[in-house]
Amino acid sequence: MLNGKRILLIVAGGIAAVKVPDLIRRLRERGASVRCILTKGGAQFVTPLTLAALSGQKIYQDLFSLTDESEMGHIQLSRDADILLVAPATADIMAKMTAGIADDIATTALLATDKPVMICPSMNVMMWTHPATQANLETLKARSVEIVGPGAGDLACGEVGDGRLAEVKDIIAALNRFFQRQRGDGALARMRVLVTSGPTHEPIDPVRYISNRSSGKQGHAIAAALANLGAQVTLIAGPTAEPDPDGVAVVRVETAAQMLKASREALPCDIAVCAAAVADWHVADASKTKLKKSTTPPRINLAPNPDILATLAQPGPQRPLLVIGFAAETGDVIEKAKVKRAAKNCDWIIANDVSPGSGTFGGDDNTVHVITAQNVESWPTLKKREVAEKLAGLIATHAAKFL
Ligand code: CTP
Repeated sequence: MLNGKRILLIVAGGIAAVKVPDLIRRLRERGASVRCILTKGGAQFVTPLTLAALSGQKIYQDLFSLTDESEMGHIQLSRDADILLVAPATADIMAKMTAGIADDIATTALLATDKPVMICPSMNVMMWTHPATQANLETLKARSVEIVGPGAGDLACGEVGDGRLAEVKDIIAALNRFFQRQRGDGALARMRVLVTSGPTHEPIDPVRYISNRSSGKQGHAIAAALANLGAQVTLIAGPTAEPDPDGVAVVRVETAAQMLKASREALPCDIAVCAAAVADWHVADASKTKLKKSTTPPRINLAPNPDILATLAQPGPQRPLLVIGFAAETGDVIEKAKVKRAAKNCDWIIANDVSPGSGTFGGDDNTVHVITAQNVESWPTLKKREVAEKLAGLIATHAAKFL
């Protein structure tokens, strides 16, 4: 859900600012980009260098900085984000937000923005419960500012009660919920989508298997990009090191037979994207016990696996309205992929070169051709995430016209 989201993080002056580095790390792990505004008070607790190193971006501290203004004006800064997140939000910054005061870069950005705002209050319990702060809180809520926390417990000042900055995991969960709600209006809202991803493992015996070099990066990125457009995505994932994308229902499987079963169970759906590198064969007589080393190597008898894409694309009442396959080829990519598209009866096929030098299997980049019955569109080399977003956009455009 947070993948690709741009977060403008405003760090105000409270002891809880020491938790901000961890927050930035966790947001970036989830694919969000984080740009920070650090107030004078915030800089007493966390250094700009720490925030710059963790966010990988410059830190904005001065409203009247000539360099900053020439690079990106403060108004632009406040708009160039999907959400403004204030963490920690002090009583002071809440009061300024309520009153519309704009006396530094943080409060100016908050007043000038046209984007949603989420605040994570953190302060002494008496300050939190003070009628002034509580009245400000109500005003901010009435203006649709999202509030996360504060939690209760031991406070840095030695007192006990409400006022602790929400836990990092709770801030992340609140952001996820927020974007989930927002995507209810997405281009693929209410569309049911099935995505297969990763390799399959076909056991030889309980410890050995046949597989391939697929990492699952492309399929998982597609599932995430479709979910970001509001689709209800079921991701059938073979064994991969990729983390489960946020906001996607993930079914983990091992073999092609299990992937087919899980795919059938995910029907009916509107769209199917088969990005998995399904093993073409399984071991016909896989041993239930570990094969022992012997003087003569064992003979492995292979039997064909079911073709999941071809099965899903078969005409019939359960056929998704749009079925998209991948074609991993090593040479003559477009021509072979055209043949594959027709043979498997899918609507589109995404052809890519997986020759050893291409770096596609396991790598972060992909060079694809989108082949439909009518035409071939060749895309430049892109990050797999970018391929996923472009493909999700194309699916959304198609869905708007035909589905
Ligand atoms: N596919 C599938 N089930 C299989 C084999 C492939 O669903 N048992 C799907 C893949 O997910 C992909 C498409 O079929 O969308 C093409 O996969 P690819 O490996 O390129 O082709 P194969 O059908 O395996 O043919 P070949 O290996 O001969 O190129």
